[in-house]
Amino acid sequence: MEFSKVRFLLSAHADRQLPPAEYAEIAFAGRSNVGKSSLINRLVGRTNLVKTSARPGKTQSLNYFLVDDRLYLVDLPGYGFARVSQQVRQEWRGLISNYIETRATLACVVVIIDLRHELKQLDRELIDWLRYLGKPMLPVYTKADKLSRNQQEKNAVALDAGLTLNAGERLLFSARTSQGVDELRRRLAAVVQASGQDATRGGGTSPAIDPI
Ligand code: GTP
Ligand code: MG
Repeated sequence: MEFSKVRFLLSAHADRQLPPAEYAEIAFAGRSNVGKSSLINRLVGRTNLVKTSARPGKTQSLNYFLVDDRLYLVDLPGYGFARVSQQVRQEWRGLISNYIETRATLACVVVIIDLRHELKQLDRELIDWLRYLGKPMLPVYTKADKLSRNQQEKNAVALDAGLTLNAGERLLFSARTSQGVDELRRRLAAVVQASGQDATRGGGTSPAIDPI
């Protein structure tokens, strides 16, 4: 999987606007302003495919991107953003949680966490909820460029402890320097293959071979 041929498909503000569930999907979740949209841009090697902003609350719907004609990347609105009304927050929460719980083709949720900060309760809750649902996930600690290598390691170990993760289960990333991007592509390609929804193997939901 190259992650090179990519185009914007649609923006969904409600369940009924989601596209037909025909390809594997990778969703990108995390706190508002953590760098979800920047990570997607880096993943697909484009500087401005997805709109990013220094102000939190930029992404306000589920944005679908079609990659290599066989995979959807889904940029989610951030959580924990205080400056939208209670009602809007509830709508987002409903839309996102319903999507994560019910989308049959959802192969993996990439949970993006700021490596600079202490673990936030909402991040822990998201990870625990994905575990409870049995959804494959990949935690990514981002903005690594803001820290020395030494500090990166220290902070990552603290986040691992707070989330009960092994170092091998997450990766460090920077949208600025591309740190971790090759590993991210490898892991996501493996996840799509393991989901049994890789269209190059004939599609469908039942894998032709057992995932390892
Ligand atoms: P919402 O859509 O508002 O939830 O935000 P988001 O999570 O999509 O974040 P976005 O990608 O828009 O980035 C937010 C800010 O963080 C922008 O100013 C980015 O330039 C900056 N940023 C994102 N990733 C990195 C990174 O790896 N390193 C550094 N230094 N800055 C980053
Ligand atoms: Mg965004």
